[in-house]
Amino acid sequence: MALLSVQNLTMRFGDKLIQEEVSFEVEPGTIFAIMGGSGCGKSTLLKHLIGLLCPAEGQVLYDGQDYWQSSEEDRNKLRAGFGVLFQSAALWSSMTVLENVLLPLEQHTDLSENERIDRAKEALSWVELGDYADYSPADLSGGMKKRAGLARAIAAQPRLLFLDEPSAGLDPISSKRLDDLVLDIRDRTGAAVLMVSHELPSLFAIADDSIFLDADSKRPIAHGKPAELLKTADHPTVRAFLHREKP
Ligand SMILES: Nc1ncnc2c1ncn2[C@@H]1O[C@H](COP(=O)(O)OP(=O)(O)O)[C@@H](O)[C@H]1O
Ligand SMILES: [Mg+2]
Repeated sequence: MALLSVQNLTMRFGDKLIQEEVSFEVEPGTIFAIMGGSGCGKSTLLKHLIGLLCPAEGQVLYDGQDYWQSSEEDRNKLRAGFGVLFQSAALWSSMTVLENVLLPLEQHTDLSENERIDRAKEALSWVELGDYADYSPADLSGGMKKRAGLARAIAAQPRLLFLDEPSAGLDPISSKRLDDLVLDIRDRTGAAVLMVSHELPSLFAIADDSIFLDADSKRPIAHGKPAELLKTADHPTVRAFLHREKP
């Protein structure tokens, strides 16, 4: 059974349709990419998957369990298994890097304070920020902020990691480093990764499967491994996205 199964999802804000007929499955330990142009609904889809937005129609199932049909208690249990890196990294500037990484451990685990600190430090060392625990987020570079956000997302050892444009705005070397980290985290923890990305090198190198959301027709127009879609996709929008030249 799939870890996550999205069935015929329709997403709306009021009367405004964002996407419809969205269906896909994510298996444990795989990397699934969400692709599409700006404003097509990628971040909105992630918010539907992590329980921040309720679908207008369709189902989001975890291990076959319908998220929105579950009790509040069961939904909390499911959410404890999610790690999230939002598009903006969203670190709290009034807290140190370590305090930011401690947040999900305080929220989702019963660990003692010492255990939480050990876990948070371990997560920081995974993303090579072991020496920056006491820094303020404001004193980190863009790539380091993303890595700190990633440490926070993995600290509570999630089964599913949701990453919204983790390498957007980073130079190619920082971007490659982040890809390597995502692969390393997947290999070490067995977590499944859902990633919104425009970065072709990442998509071709690390994604096992993907969906392409079209802003015009407001529905998915391609589904498959990006490296395969490069050869097989015939929709002009998907081809333009996958075959685009580097700026
Ligand atoms: N809270 C909201 N209320 C109304 N419209 C929204 C809201 N959030 C996003 N939108 C709209 O939904 C569409 C998809 O947004 P988003 O998911 O952020 O796109 P993407 O991440 O693919 O760039 C956009 O037209 C955006 O303006
Ligand atoms: Mg977005």
